[in-house]
Amino acid sequence: MSQFSNQVVVVTGGTKGIGKGIVDYFAVENANVVFVGRDQKQGAQLVEHYKKQDKHVVFFQGDLTDRQSQQELVTFIYNAYGRLDVLCCCAGIYPSTTMDKITESEWDAVLNTNLKSVFFTIKGFLPLMKEQNYGRVVLMSSITGPFTGYPGWTHYGASKAAMLGFMRSAALEFVSHNVTINAVLPGNILTESLLDQGEDYIKAVAQAIPTGKLGTPHDIARAVAFFASQDASFITGQTLVVDGGQLLPEGVL
Ligand SMILES: NC(=O)c1ccc[n+]([C@@H]2O[C@H](COP(=O)([O-])OP(=O)(O)OC[C@H]3O[C@@H](n4cnc5c(N)ncnc54)[C@H](OP(=O)(O)O)[C@@H]3O)[C@@H](O)[C@H]2O)c1
Repeated sequence: MSQFSNQVVVVTGGTKGIGKGIVDYFAVENANVVFVGRDQKQGAQLVEHYKKQDKHVVFFQGDLTDRQSQQELVTFIYNAYGRLDVLCCCAGIYPSTTMDKITESEWDAVLNTNLKSVFFTIKGFLPLMKEQNYGRVVLMSSITGPFTGYPGWTHYGASKAAMLGFMRSAALEFVSHNVTINAVLPGNILTESLLDQGEDYIKAVAQAIPTGKLGTPHDIARAVAFFASQDASFITGQTLVVDGGQLLPEGVL
């Protein structure tokens, strides 16, 4: 029996990409998985897929930048399960726009989705995690921001680095309640959105990675599962880079 069997796992941004891989990981481990996103059609399709496999996967449709939606999510989890073991904050956006063209509304959208909504989602679940004296929070940061930069991602990089600043103080606030908070920092991960960029783009990205290939959503899911596991019970406020060695080279490979 898996250590995650019957645990309640919430994955924000589970309708596609990395989040979808995380949903799949915990579904296979027989957890009670609730994933969050705005895309009703995609959410319903995934639920149908797991229903056929006899897995407990539920879709909660909501926009996490909307405070009411966040509160409804917390109420839903409280009423349906009465507990929450793992909260993985994976929802994020990364529009590519150079600084001269970033409008205030785009800056706000990136920071609201990637940072503010993470803060308020965790804040919303904190009373429940304190009450049960248990919780594993895993953030989805990035190598972009904390370690690297890329033209077009000033706002995105800022949001992903700020997330780590938040995490370190939160870790100290949560520690007496047996709640850990850690972050996974993915490199380039092959998702549906990236596939849309075409084969040439993916080949070029792969050349910058020492392993010669992009990561998969499951590579990231395994890192999330580590932080969510008993093996990581003495780890909090830490980061794990999952990038196929992309950060290591001193120059062009
Ligand atoms: N892919 C990479 O190489 C990479 C590298 C480093 C870090 N990351 C990080 O990993 C996370 C996932 O990236 P991805 O590439 O898998 O992205 P993606 O394929 O575009 O998926 C993003 C997910 O976030 C959800 N989402 C976005 N805004 C939302 C909102 N306001 N409310 C609720 N859900 C929202 C989307 O759901 P709906 O569309 O249904 O709302 C979707 O499920 C992001 O935080 C990203 O910054 C990705």
